[in-house]
Amino acid sequence: MKKASIGIAVAAAVLLLAQFAITGTDASARRGKELFRDQCAMCHRLDAKGMCMAPSLIGVTERMSVKEIAAHARKIADEMMCARSIKTLTDKDFADIAAYLRTLKPSSPDPME
Ligand code: HEC
Repeated sequence: MKKASIGIAVAAAVLLLAQFAITGTDASARRGKELFRDQCAMCHRLDAKGMCMAPSLIGVTERMSVKEIAAHARKIADEMMCARSIKTLTDKDFADIAAYLRTLKPSSPDPME
């Protein structure tokens, strides 16, 4: 009986931790989506597929680290007037934006690639 209740307690703790990990990532991606919408979507589109001069960012997290993405976006903020507000984003903001970008998968093969 005692053993069983310890088992249940352990299972409950594991479940709780798993739940926390999942919602943690979800919350980060949700926050990242809002930041992306406000700061990046005007050039890269909300679905991150890109347009005009701004390339698609789908799968970019597999090629670039969060640090590199942040450095790149900050460089763009220096170069383009309309992207100035990117300067206000913190490293945590970029981690959230990367979490959002990780949730995006190409829906169909791009005929141009
Ligand atoms: C004013 C338009 C504009 C905004 C706003 C903008 N970008 Fe870009 N971005 C570009 C252009 C243009 C390029 C391609 C030229 C270059 O790489 O310098 C680019 C390239 C990139 C690249 C490099 C992709 C690659 O495959 O090499 C990353 C990463 C990136 N942007 C991330 C972001 C993020 C994250 C944000 C928001 C915080 C953002 N950008 C906001 C215009 C923009």
